[in-house]
Amino acid sequence: MKIACLGVLVATTAVGGAAWADGPRMLKGPYLQDLAPRSITVMWHLDHAAPADITVEGPGGERVFHAAAARIGEATIDRLTPASRYRYRVDIAGQSYRGEFATAPEVGADVPFSFVVMGDTRSDVDSHRRVVERMAQTVPDFVVGTGDMVDDGYRQDQWQQFFDVEAHLLRDNVYFPSVGNHDRQGRGRTADSYRAFFSVPDNGGDTERYYAFSYAAVRFLVLDSNEYSFALSDQTAWLERELIAARQDRSVRHIFAVMHHPPFSISLHGGARDLRERWTPLFEKYQISAVFSGHDHVYERAEHNGIRYFVSGGGGAPLYPRAPDPNPVDLAAVKKFERVFHFLRVTVAGARVEVTGVRTDGSVIETTVWSDVPSTVLPDAPRLVASAADRAGTTSTRAGASAAPSAAAPAGAAAGGDAPAALVPPPEPAGGSLVWIGLGGVGLLLAAAVVVVRTLRR
Ligand SMILES: [Fe+2]
Repeated sequence: MKIACLGVLVATTAVGGAAWADGPRMLKGPYLQDLAPRSITVMWHLDHAAPADITVEGPGGERVFHAAAARIGEATIDRLTPASRYRYRVDIAGQSYRGEFATAPEVGADVPFSFVVMGDTRSDVDSHRRVVERMAQTVPDFVVGTGDMVDDGYRQDQWQQFFDVEAHLLRDNVYFPSVGNHDRQGRGRTADSYRAFFSVPDNGGDTERYYAFSYAAVRFLVLDSNEYSFALSDQTAWLERELIAARQDRSVRHIFAVMHHPPFSISLHGGARDLRERWTPLFEKYQISAVFSGHDHVYERAEHNGIRYFVSGGGGAPLYPRAPDPNPVDLAAVKKFERVFHFLRVTVAGARVEVTGVRTDGSVIETTVWSDVPSTVLPDAPRLVASAADRAGTTSTRAGASAAPSAAAPAGAAAGGDAPAALVPPPEPAGGSLVWIGLGGVGLLLAAAVVVVRTLRR
């Protein structure tokens, strides 16, 4: 039996070897990008250019898409059915690579879903692999990266390492990346490799370095928080335009921001002051639900003026300690800190958001739960107030120690920011005030007339 199998293996290898000698070799993928209700993008990377056929099977039958010869191939599959499962196959020079995916629900659909967040995978392959293997067990709807996938964006061997470890996860799950400081390259801090390997929605002002996407009733804003980007782009203006648009859209129940650098952290890098000055006030003004960052290689949860900030930088890079002397602003904001390899599992169901930090052994760091009440702004007149007391929703946190990510965590220390809050009622329109002033004036005049008549009668 063993010998027979060996014979088959040898024969297969011989055939495969002959095919690779002439054909291209698959370096990365296929992997999934740019998830939407009716489209998705399949990508792959070959050692030399070749055409590809992508066959998609699902609702509506089977369709074949042809991609022209390229080393980094990309095919956008369109006319799909929302919230549906598909199988796909990429055929290149006689070799087939198979995967599957599920399309996003209709934008605005109030359906529950979950996604995972990880970041700072960088250099430690074994730790990175353990995080990915644990993450794959949660069967997420998609994956969000908080940046620093590699140690040096110029090093192609490191990008290869990242995709090798992530291969199975990203074959069947769409990955939404954010660009970290290490993902860039050269003195110009360009993001050439990042831009070549990923295909994200092209709706940011600086192509692909920042972008927005929707999944069900959530709007995601993925930002480039690198210092250089502030000078190179009008990202802040774009961010505010996106926030206003989201708040004017009644189908958007939650807004999440994703960016590499954290505004608040008590680890080695600490919170980014420029982000606190430029973007945190906008997050507060438009009442976003949460911010997901990396950069410091730890798990952290912070709250500041009612906004929740999570640091998830424990994807494989060397773990960081607590800073010896944190900034008082960071110290006041951070409610939970743990130096641990981990990822976040985020579940959204209606108004409820649940964020669980999961260690590589499956145990839970903590689970944070809150509800966001629907809120909108009037056209051309943003009126949401940005203070803790005005923040909608409540937060509760359970310290975690369960053996499995799906198990309920026991009750633990209460988190900061537990006080219930409500939206400030909108100011009464000026027209309404004038009406009341007018009625009051008429009343006073009538009263005065009565007094005059009575006086005259006397
Ligand atoms: Fe970083």
